[in-house]
Amino acid sequence: MKVVITGGTGFIGRRLAQRLLQRGALAGPDGRETGIDELVLFDNAPAQPPIPPNNRLKIVTGDIADRDTVRRLIDASTGTVFHLAAVVSGQAEADTDIGYRVNLDGTRAVLEACRALGTRPRLVFASSLAVYGGDMPPAISDETPLTPQTSYGAQKAIGELLINDYSRKGFIDGRCLRLPTIVVRPGRPNRAASTWVSSLFREPLSGVEVVCPVSRESVMACLSPRRLVAAMERVHDLPGERFGYSRTVLLPGISATVAEMVEALRRAGGEAAVKRIRWQPDAVIQKIVDGWPRAIVAKRAEGLGIHADADIDEIVRAFIEDDLSAQKALVAAG
Ligand SMILES: NC(=O)c1ccc[n+]([C@@H]2O[C@H](COP(=O)([O-])OP(=O)(O)OC[C@H]3O[C@@H](n4cnc5c(N)ncnc54)[C@H](O)[C@@H]3O)[C@@H](O)[C@H]2O)c1
Repeated sequence: MKVVITGGTGFIGRRLAQRLLQRGALAGPDGRETGIDELVLFDNAPAQPPIPPNNRLKIVTGDIADRDTVRRLIDASTGTVFHLAAVVSGQAEADTDIGYRVNLDGTRAVLEACRALGTRPRLVFASSLAVYGGDMPPAISDETPLTPQTSYGAQKAIGELLINDYSRKGFIDGRCLRLPTIVVRPGRPNRAASTWVSSLFREPLSGVEVVCPVSRESVMACLSPRRLVAAMERVHDLPGERFGYSRTVLLPGISATVAEMVEALRRAGGEAAVKRIRWQPDAVIQKIVDGWPRAIVAKRAEGLGIHADADIDEIVRAFIEDDLSAQKALVAAG
């Protein structure tokens, strides 16, 4: 079967692609393990760094909000779509039109293309903790009401509702994952308000100075890309009936203060790495971060066999093993 990953050349898309090529199969529409003959990464940006060629892999460039393009992309041989294409929180907030076009119209284009197949393909959608906001309990859970306080959060919440409805109507067999911040993101900082968390590990470990814009007491719930990809495979393969009335699963994450992150950095990279942090408070970023959930209680995910990293050290270790040498090469290239 053909598997499509939208936003496929992005951070998570390429991780997932690597894993799917390695496994070579996923649950097919009938639930049985089915070989992946073709894996299509769809994106409007080229893969940077380039993705190693593979005879089952195809990269298609286009705009997710263009319905004709998406119809051609998601064709009769498509058994599964991982819908990850999005503009991130900072950009969706700064440019309302782009945010709604990519994050809402793009999602509708994907859903309509899946519906047109008439084969009820599986679809996994990457939602976000940004669906929560305002006055929140100390720990968010599957029962916490959705009160997004950003356009990005609103777009993700709408996406979740659409996927529930299209699944209820039998157009797709959908699942949504609410992602905490995925750490450590390799490459360069992006426009997400949370970008500094990855920078805090990535830059010092690759010999580069970093600015930390928030206080040592700030708290963030994080998950490693390894654990996320495992969760995506798991929810994809479960039978649709396991989800009942809600197709959404809040993912677990471990909460760590910035001070605890710095201690983990010290354990991994020594005093020299810690000395590369410059503390430069930014009131705007601090306010955004203070408005985010401090902890997650993800009972539903745990019940489905999805688990967080054991501690922040596991997250740092995954970065060192999977990405640090490529990151150092990127730094050396300038
Ligand atoms: N990384 C995280 O911490 C995190 C947290 C919560 C939710 N998410 C969600 O997970 C998904 C993947 O995130 P990521 O970290 O890999 O982000 P990313 O920015 O690396 O990947 C998103 C991809 O979407 C592509 N894209 C943007 N506009 C497009 C368009 N018009 N047409 C086609 N492609 C387009 C981008 O080029 C990019 O490659 C996103 O939906 C994001 O909102 C990520």
